[in-house]
Amino acid sequence: MKRVKKLKILKNLYTLKLLGFDYVEDFNIDEKKISLSNNKLPDDLNSLNNIVQNCHLCQLSKTRKRVVFGEGNPNANLLFIGEGPGANEDATGRPFVGRAGELLTKVIENVLFIKREDIYIANIVKCRPPNNRVPNDEEVDACLPYLLKQIEIIKPKLIVTLGATAYKNLTGDITPISKIRGELLEFNGIKLIPTFHPSFLLRNPSAKKFAFLDMKKIKSLM
Ligand code: URA
Repeated sequence: MKRVKKLKILKNLYTLKLLGFDYVEDFNIDEKKISLSNNKLPDDLNSLNNIVQNCHLCQLSKTRKRVVFGEGNPNANLLFIGEGPGANEDATGRPFVGRAGELLTKVIENVLFIKREDIYIANIVKCRPPNNRVPNDEEVDACLPYLLKQIEIIKPKLIVTLGATAYKNLTGDITPISKIRGELLEFNGIKLIPTFHPSFLLRNPSAKKFAFLDMKKIKSLM
């Protein structure tokens, strides 16, 4: 059975469980009827968050402490997307609160001159991959519909992907981040600019000048 199909079936079973079902009869699976869209998810962030908090669609749910749904202004014009929670985010349930988060917050407030609470911050996966490894395809496939729904609800004017994992998994484009960063692109009719991940900038301070140029471009678009 195809992975995506399995995940869709599992997701339907979890929805039924949330609705109070303990048992469902055997059912026929008509592949054509299994929609790949995320339109079964609720159209408001609070209800979506409730579902995500109870998600067990991938193995990351077994090792997470907290689900990190994302936070910020639900009507934000600007949406930042990272890779996935690290240890601090797993402990607090909030995105970008560790060292990388401190750098991101500084950039948002001191380069873009926007308050952190006025934008929205989310991740490709909502649960911490053990030892901060890159999330695998199965984990991303299971989690991406939540992010797509967040984008649909928030309707940002501009998306900024942070690092290769966020860019590649959102857009499907495998162009290296060093080549594509700072380009003004489009995702589902929304402007998108990929830039470096703040963790990369902490390890490679010489790349900060490029991230600064990207932020200036973002500022000019706001
Ligand atoms: N790195 C990420 O990609 N996301 C976080 O929330 C924290 C660190």
